[in-house]
Amino acid sequence: MSRLPGRSAFAIDPGLTLLNHGSFGALPREVLAARVRMLRASEADPVGFMARAPAALRAVADRVGRFVGARGRDLVFVDNATAGVQTVLSSLAWRRGDRIVETSLGYAGVRAAVAHVARRHGLVVEAAPVAFPCAGPEAVLDAVVPHLAGARLLVVDAVTSASGLVLPVQALVEAAHARGVAVLVDAAHAPGMIPVDCRAWGADWITGNLHKWAFAPRSCAFLYAHPSRQAGTVPLVASWDVDKGWPVAFDWPGTRDVTPWLASRVGLDWIDRHGAAAIRNRNDALSAWAVEHLSARWGVQPPAPASMRAALATLPVPGALGAQAVGPLHAALRAEGLEVYTVAIEGRAWIRVSAQLHVGEEDIVRLGDLTAAWVASHG
Ligand SMILES: Cc1ncc(COP(=O)(O)O)c(C=O)c1O
Repeated sequence: MSRLPGRSAFAIDPGLTLLNHGSFGALPREVLAARVRMLRASEADPVGFMARAPAALRAVADRVGRFVGARGRDLVFVDNATAGVQTVLSSLAWRRGDRIVETSLGYAGVRAAVAHVARRHGLVVEAAPVAFPCAGPEAVLDAVVPHLAGARLLVVDAVTSASGLVLPVQALVEAAHARGVAVLVDAAHAPGMIPVDCRAWGADWITGNLHKWAFAPRSCAFLYAHPSRQAGTVPLVASWDVDKGWPVAFDWPGTRDVTPWLASRVGLDWIDRHGAAAIRNRNDALSAWAVEHLSARWGVQPPAPASMRAALATLPVPGALGAQAVGPLHAALRAEGLEVYTVAIEGRAWIRVSAQLHVGEEDIVRLGDLTAAWVASHG
């Protein structure tokens, strides 16, 4: 098998070590170049380019569908996972008192969106408390299932954000459906990081960013709706085709830059060329190595079993530092050219490392040493 591309394949500034691929992704040079070519084409013939866009998007949806286990007609493009979630929340015909279940590990922006919709419609929101550190997938089910009976919607992550845990999505969907609860899977981090199979997951809706781990330009995500849910799922921006229904209603949300959506095909071609499984395996192995190395270097324990981890490795900052350490530690690492996600969870400071092709073991060793030195002088 050919060697996988490394750092030089990416457009990242040579002075920067990007250990936070997870927040916003980073593009291979080839995808960036293809997107720039698309922007040039759209300037060379603005009217012709835009006129061709809706049909072109349907063809790209077929391509994305093959990547995430869905038919193209079951997918629409949205700007990001937040928009995917909001589309579903805004589409449902809520009744006062309806209950939404989320988890305590949910992404804060999505939880804010849920709270916003709840205020507007008089809904009840229950956050199932998932303990972190987490004992295993069973602990997640044990935390969520007691909240399901009588709920209208479960909103649950495929991969949690700050804590970086791969959740047992299929089992959660089955448990919710067995109790008559619809499920929206927030798969913001999933495409490209873990295998995504919309049909097998069985959820009512799944939204996933392509701009994080699938090498699409930023502002590129999909929303999948199960065929039984498509009729009631409407775009946030209603325009010319709104009465044509799913999926066409989503393909012309007014004038916008469609190049991130169109270029997602190029990111997926790039992944296919190098092997989706080969990339995932390499990143998972690097993340496992990071956990082993940093746990030993810092004298800390990983917060979850290896079976709940993919390319994100979240570990406690050594010295049991509190939330106040998060900003200064981030700034100190950034001053050394390391961009890494530092975050407070349950009042403690944590570091989340993203393993991606542009990261090597030597970068993680540096992170370990610099963090240990910073803690020694500030802890
Ligand atoms: C679980 C989860 N949901 C939603 C989001 C939001 O993604 P975006 O800002 O692309 O909408 C993130 C971002 O990291 C996330 O981790």
